[in-house]
Amino acid sequence: MPNLLEVKLYGSEILNKVAEPVTELTTELKELVADMLHTMYFTEGVGIAAPQVGVSSRIFVCDYEYTKSEKKKPLVLINPEILEYEGEYHLDEGCLSVPGVFEEITRFQRIVIRYRDLKWKEKIVEATDAFAVILQHEYDHLDGKTFVDKLNPIRKMANAIKLKRIANRAAQMSNELLCKEDESPQDNSSK
Ligand code: NI
Repeated sequence: MPNLLEVKLYGSEILNKVAEPVTELTTELKELVADMLHTMYFTEGVGIAAPQVGVSSRIFVCDYEYTKSEKKKPLVLINPEILEYEGEYHLDEGCLSVPGVFEEITRFQRIVIRYRDLKWKEKIVEATDAFAVILQHEYDHLDGKTFVDKLNPIRKMANAIKLKRIANRAAQMSNELLCKEDESPQDNSSK
């Protein structure tokens, strides 16, 4: 059974870090992907990137189809690289790491990404409109960016109190984590 992972909130250090490329497909990594997918569906997100669950690796998962039908069609992108981008597209975005904030962001309308899948095969995905937005949003997480970085100063100001509250919660969560690590490490069965 996959685990439900804790999603790091806006203000957490790891969300500002450029993630490391994946060098090999380990069992641990496959488990991580299964947990990320489980967490994404459970929280009703359309995508989730490894840094959001505390792992600074260049992996993200998404499922654009699931927003339109009940069928799950997950996409796992390892070491994604943007090959082409063009046009302009505007869409309201939200993020599991920034709960309660939804803002219109300007993105490319079309994007082509090369990546490796869970079998370490090289793949290409071409996306437009909302699907392209999801890919760009998740890709940004791998470069230590969130959609908040793309807000203009007025919209950022309008969300200042919400953002502050989320960042406070993030600080609280990381303190709780530090306290937990101080306690007996033997009781670590839940992984
Ligand atoms: Ni996000």
